Amino acid sequence: MKILVCGGAGYVGAHVARELHLRNHEVTVLDNLSTGHRQAVRWGRFVQADVMVPPSLDSVLRGGAFEAVVHLCALSIVSGSTADPYGYYLNNVQGTLNLLRSMRDHGVGKLVFSSTAAIYGQPLSDVISEDHPKNPLSPYGASKLMVERILADAATAYGLSSVSLRYFNAAGAAYLDGIGESHQPETHLIPNVLRSLLAGSPLQVFGNQYATPDGTCVRDYVHVRDLASAHALALDYLGNHTGAHAFNLGSGAGFSVMDVIRTAERVTGKRASVILREPRAGDPAQLVASSLLAQTELGWHAPLHDLDEIVLGAWRWHQDPAY
Ligand code: UFG
Repeated sequence: MKILVCGGAGYVGAHVARELHLRNHEVTVLDNLSTGHRQAVRWGRFVQADVMVPPSLDSVLRGGAFEAVVHLCALSIVSGSTADPYGYYLNNVQGTLNLLRSMRDHGVGKLVFSSTAAIYGQPLSDVISEDHPKNPLSPYGASKLMVERILADAATAYGLSSVSLRYFNAAGAAYLDGIGESHQPETHLIPNVLRSLLAGSPLQVFGNQYATPDGTCVRDYVHVRDLASAHALALDYLGNHTGAHAFNLGSGAGFSVMDVIRTAERVTGKRASVILREPRAGDPAQLVASSLLAQTELGWHAPLHDLDEIVLGAWRWHQDPAY
């Protein structure tokens, strides 16, 4: 298939472009490089364009003959969204509307959308399935939920077929292929643990009085390569499913912040030093996915990579990052 990957220079997007290329799709990456990396675009053609600039989008979609779009462009720092909600809603909601309108104008009727566990808000159950109530705690989560609603309306009004993939905690790297996680600033746990181990500097741990076995937050870490394969399966799914669909993507296993630190120590052979900080605003105690629906509907395998492999891959990447 001829596929446009919007945001394909970002962390998840680069892994998606790689996966689609490996499955013999013809990939074009569109990115404005505001947070993405040109060096991460290693599979397919690159065009620099911006979902906030409709004419630049139209120029890519016009004559592109794309059969589907994978849309991963977003501002995605939870705390950043609380500080700048206008910026986040504009970029994530208006930017998506611009893309959807251009897709409609140019006859592209299939979309895979990068959504998030942040749409659920404070969990009401130990394990979250897709029908869990949606009460996002941040403008970031709310912006993604708004887009999911827009996709449902677009299915009814224009016949757009879509799959929203609700990522839990993406982690790891395809380091042998020269891609991995590189955010500025970095807010995520695994890269921060590894950077602090490399630098010999302390890691900040945000809160240790949560209602979890060791008091630190529990998350569901899923290898970015497993996430990427779900995008390919979602595109296949759209070959014979109309309407708007949504699937959780997680491993189904929960690990605390301290579990991750211990794993990183074991994998790297280094000892971490930790500074305890106040909890971060809006961090739920536990977020663990049920991905049963993705497995039964998309045929997604239960994730192939465990936490040790996730951390080892990220460690190899962080020792010699290509960007
Ligand atoms: N943490 C630390 N120290 C750090 C970084 C993180 O203790 O330096 C803790 C956080 O407080 C949290 C856990 O590690 O308890 C995981 O934090 P991350 O920032 O790695 O991930 P989040 O669970 O906060 O965020 C993820 C996705 C977001 C998504 C969110 C949904 O990255 O895109 O889940 O809640 F919005």
